[in-house]
Amino acid sequence: MATKLGLNVLDKGSLSAARELEDFPLKLFPEWRLPLSIAVGPTAAFFFYLFIRNVIYAYVEEKTEISYRIMVSLANKVFPIVALIMLSLCYLPGAIAAFFQLYRGTKYRCFPNWLDCWMLCRKQMGLVALGYAFLHPIYTFIIPIRYAFRHKFISEVVDEIKNNNITPFYFDNTKAWGADSFLSLGILGFFLFILLGLTSLPSVGGSLSWREFSFIQSKLGHLTLFICTAHGYIYSWNKFLLPSNYKWYTPPGYMLCLIVPSVVLVLKLLLLLPCVDRTLTRIRQGWERSQPKEEMVEIKATNL
Ligand code: HEM
Repeated sequence: MATKLGLNVLDKGSLSAARELEDFPLKLFPEWRLPLSIAVGPTAAFFFYLFIRNVIYAYVEEKTEISYRIMVSLANKVFPIVALIMLSLCYLPGAIAAFFQLYRGTKYRCFPNWLDCWMLCRKQMGLVALGYAFLHPIYTFIIPIRYAFRHKFISEVVDEIKNNNITPFYFDNTKAWGADSFLSLGILGFFLFILLGLTSLPSVGGSLSWREFSFIQSKLGHLTLFICTAHGYIYSWNKFLLPSNYKWYTPPGYMLCLIVPSVVLVLKLLLLLPCVDRTLTRIRQGWERSQPKEEMVEIKATNL
């Protein structure tokens, strides 16, 4: 009847969903609640962890008061760390879902509820991560104009002159390569991150075909994660083995934040293995692995 009246029909479920649909405009950011709560947890955890490792440690062990670092240095650690973890959390459920499908040998069985919720909030989680990542270059670019930085920089020069060093600054080629590579990976990763964020917007995503959209979100997404993780690895490559970095026997934040992205990338690599990829593609095209007898009996019994 609605179609005959010239109205567009949209199936939003049974009549019992009507109350929920009516309440929908009155809800405050319902889709953002889970991603924001996921973001708040690691932000608070990393903030306190880094505060203890940096500020409290310096106060207790070195008798120096560096609480001013909370404003820029600490923020510039917490934001990229959480951004990287959240970016990887956008791709972890996809990998888990693929392993579920491989294990079950079919795409026709529902995922657990928690995985469904997680997959549904990936877009919002990615956008929150992009917001965090956006703050990182801004904080980074103001580093040279900070009083503390200029003071340290000038003191070092004056010390070198006082020590009568003829060649005050030894140029380390390896360090130059490391710094340039890590910065350019950061810039590239950031650019791709923005591209991902833009294509997830309905107005931009709507203008792309399904194939283009899934290419950008999946292939380019994993590439972004890889580049951002490489940025983190190159930043910490020469710090892994330095005992002085393990203050009070705790690892630095930039090492901890590499765990989840590395796990996601390894899982993705496993899924890309030709034998695994072939089976997964077949399952996603509708093929089903014949089930073991016991399971079949169980399913039949449930159906009955
Ligand atoms: C314009 C792009 C970027 C530039 C110029 C840049 C630059 C930097 C710099 C200079 C540091 C060292 C900060 C310090 O010593 O305190 C750093 C650290 C870091 N960056 Fe980036 N970055 C960029 C993008 C990104 C992106 C997109 C991510 C990932 C989402 C990221 C993740 C990290 C992480 C995890 C650290 C280690 C934080 C720590 O000190 O504990 N960066 N970056």
